[in-house]
Amino acid sequence: MGEVDPAFIQDAEHRPKLYTIQAEEIPVIDLSPITNQAVSDPSSIEGLVKEIGRACKEWGFFQVINHGVPLSLRQNIYKASRLFFAQTLEEKRKVSRDETSPNGYYDTEHTKNVRDWKEVFDFHAKDPTFIPVTSDDHDDRVTHWTNQSPQYPPNFRGIIEEYVEEVEKLSFKLMELIALSLGLEAKRFEEFFIKDQTSFIRLNHYPPCPYPHLALGVGRHKDSGALTVLAQDEVGGLEVKRKADQEWVRVKPTPDAYIINVGDIIQVWSNDFYESVEHRVMVNPEKERFSIPFFFFPAHDTEVQPLEELTNEKNPPKYRPYKWGKFLVTRKSSNFKKKNVENIQI
Ligand code: SIN
Ligand code: FE2
Repeated sequence: MGEVDPAFIQDAEHRPKLYTIQAEEIPVIDLSPITNQAVSDPSSIEGLVKEIGRACKEWGFFQVINHGVPLSLRQNIYKASRLFFAQTLEEKRKVSRDETSPNGYYDTEHTKNVRDWKEVFDFHAKDPTFIPVTSDDHDDRVTHWTNQSPQYPPNFRGIIEEYVEEVEKLSFKLMELIALSLGLEAKRFEEFFIKDQTSFIRLNHYPPCPYPHLALGVGRHKDSGALTVLAQDEVGGLEVKRKADQEWVRVKPTPDAYIINVGDIIQVWSNDFYESVEHRVMVNPEKERFSIPFFFFPAHDTEVQPLEELTNEKNPPKYRPYKWGKFLVTRKSSNFKKKNVENIQI
């Protein structure tokens, strides 16, 4: 590769430092107390709830181990992802996202106007053709978000669906723990996700990049959903802005752990008690990297606003309600219509 395409070059102030602080202190939380059972008796998991609360408050990020997602499913999806991305560009483009389906393959993601050094395959957790057309509420060109099913590798779709089912269960459990940590009923958030959730899974492939000092795999951004449940491989590269001092710190890969982060929706629901934290991905000059985030998103018709229980006269709502579906559709459709929008990262 010769000169770097200027589209990938970060402004000087956002370029990564090649030596970074290893964030070994990002909390690693053991979920064994709830792995095989529902959270029926909150008093038995008080310690765990406190840990989750502290991690959400101090970092907005944490890792979980003994999370209950079978390793074999994670291995299967990693293998499928490797095989898919190893194909020619021509093959991958047969399942490109387009106007009729923002799900599928693309390699032109931009975050804050700078191109990301990665390629992606997006897949909705629920086959999303259900997304209702509600009057003039949103752009009906993207009401049928059908998932694409590549021919190769075999059973790609089945492998993804099997994995998603388990990661979704984990997400529900995490939402219960987060609810308890905010002093709410364990099931407080369930209503937003139980029907017509808009969650999706993303397969990320970051090829080796000869310009790790100039480019990023994903530029700095916050996640707009409720929760992100991320599997990263052993290469590493995810960096999180530490709240305490605003330094970028690297999240150390922990085998078989998931990295969890609080998204904008939890920030709004908790009226800023928990905050969505900026993160980015560094690239590696020698090694390719694969990661698989699951974006846990509520139902299309959810009105996102600070929860009544968490606001009062002294702590009035800091956000006006917004319609999740409308936000999502606007964001999604602008993703593939315009290249250079301000912040198109989900
Ligand atoms: C992202 O935040 O979009 C990707 C995270 C990762 O690949 O580690
Ligand atoms: Fe992210």
